[in-house]
Amino acid sequence: MAIRHVLGIETSCDETSAAVLRVEEDRTAVRSLVILSQDIHRVFGGVVPELASREHLRTIGPVVERALAEAGVGLSQLDGIAVTAGPGLIGALLVGLMYGKGLAFGLGKPLLGVHHLEGHLFAPTLEDPTLQPPFIALLVSGGHTLLLDVEDWGRYHRLGETQDDAAGEAFDKVGTLLGLDYPAGAQVERLAREGRPGRFDFPRPMLREGYDFSFSGLKTAVLRAVRACSDPGADRANLARGFQDAIIEVLVEKTARAVRDLGRETAMIGGGVACNRTLAFALAKRLEGAARVVVASPRLNTDNAAMIAAAGAWRLARGEHSGMDLEPFDSGPLPGLVGNPPRSG
Ligand code: KG4
Ligand code: ZN
Repeated sequence: MAIRHVLGIETSCDETSAAVLRVEEDRTAVRSLVILSQDIHRVFGGVVPELASREHLRTIGPVVERALAEAGVGLSQLDGIAVTAGPGLIGALLVGLMYGKGLAFGLGKPLLGVHHLEGHLFAPTLEDPTLQPPFIALLVSGGHTLLLDVEDWGRYHRLGETQDDAAGEAFDKVGTLLGLDYPAGAQVERLAREGRPGRFDFPRPMLREGYDFSFSGLKTAVLRAVRACSDPGADRANLARGFQDAIIEVLVEKTARAVRDLGRETAMIGGGVACNRTLAFALAKRLEGAARVVVASPRLNTDNAAMIAAAGAWRLARGEHSGMDLEPFDSGPLPGLVGNPPRSG
């Protein structure tokens, strides 16, 4: 059966999102995308799982209805339902999963459980259909930092990942040290623009070692610097600048190494931290003449259901579907993750 209209549902963390895609031969159009961000967690400086689940429960129905109405697509026109199955907060995932299962069962349409990171991988294709494997992918979010060689859709080689904190987590923790609200990534980037380069020279962890990352030492170095400052308020922008320069240098170095080692001509950045323009610009500059850099717009990089529907549509079109026994998972590898990458040359 041809897959034309796919409903996507994403509730893995603190965004309740639904989207409708229309799949064409050569491109996929986002007919609607509704993202409801849960503000309540700001007060607590991080996501409170139980509150997240309750908010999802309250809003999932209206969010899905609104996505269908904006798309002008009725339930009977849907050809499949793609829902994030993990990784994420179990209670939060369960809300989207149960809703998706209910719809799929009631309508007699195929259901597909999507891996959240595969959603981030597909996000840029919604704006740039020319993004096709092979390419190097740097997935950087609040929960993950993963460097992949995408040999083909559904065939991913893990090159490296973080040994401790995720890149977004490091941005958020440093933001807290600087007195910023959670999530702090975008505010740290804004502050860093006003900072003086070199005022703080923080370590670049594991810069020369392989493809793995480690950010907890960098975070501790920022903490020490904040404590040592007589007036941290006055140095806030300089601290943000020092931290951002360090983390971006590491991310860029490893991604560029992967592009070179594997001889790829395209690199994509995905996940919430891909909203960081300074990072995208630094990578594009570093790879100038060697590879092009593809980054989706911020709305598609932060958690959203359109990317889940995009990954789901690809798998549904291959005839895959999930059973009604589909369960949420808090961690787990991407489907199609294979061993070591082929070395070029
Ligand atoms: O992918 P995402 O929306 O949620 C997860 O799957 O985790 O990523 C959220 C993360 C947060 O840590 C947030 O601070 C970070 O993305 N982020 C940024 C920027 N915008 C969002 N980090 C750095 N610079 C930004 N401009
Ligand atoms: Zn995400």
